Amino acid sequence: MTLIKHRFSRRGFAAGAMAGALVGPQALAQAVTATSDMGPFYPLGYRGETDADLTRVAGASARAEGQVIEVVGRVLDKLGNPLRGAQLDIWQANHHGRYDHPQDPAVMPLDPGFQGFARINTGADGSWKLTTIKPGSYDSPIGNRPPHIHMDALGGTTRAMLQMYFPEDAEANARDTLYQSLGERAPTSVASALGDHRYSWDIVLLEG
Ligand SMILES: [Fe+2]
Repeated sequence: MTLIKHRFSRRGFAAGAMAGALVGPQALAQAVTATSDMGPFYPLGYRGETDADLTRVAGASARAEGQVIEVVGRVLDKLGNPLRGAQLDIWQANHHGRYDHPQDPAVMPLDPGFQGFARINTGADGSWKLTTIKPGSYDSPIGNRPPHIHMDALGGTTRAMLQMYFPEDAEANARDTLYQSLGERAPTSVASALGDHRYSWDIVLLEG
């Protein structure tokens, strides 16, 4: 993925997010969300359930292990216009830091109550909402990875591989090789805490 240097500060990004009701010519320029690689655990397919609640699987005897969280956000273009019908493919490790993927060498257990994948589309106002559990951290060839949620975002003309990090893990994020590689744009990959295990994260795509 090409790294695009941006001219906007995190403060400007936050101000833009707060002014989210503005669209069209009044919209505020947004900092484009930093992109990452697909990574080794990109889903081989979207089998079974792919709805927006990863914590419940039909037929499973229990809800997913771990702390249930809710993540809300919008998909925007760089001018702040909401993108209707953008597709988000989502995948993440379970509570134990294990991916449901044949290439994951982890010895940690799978969780039959955890869905692992989601495919959702944004509404008319560009909004999306995900119910999941906070992923576990895991060891990898490039060091320990802090909790993160992968997304493959597909807008009208832009596709972007993204990773969302958690604001309470600032120290672990700062030690993470991939987070460091995002440079000054790394803060665009960190969600905002809304309290009560809820987070918000707006995704800004370069060309919408
Ligand atoms: Fe990952």
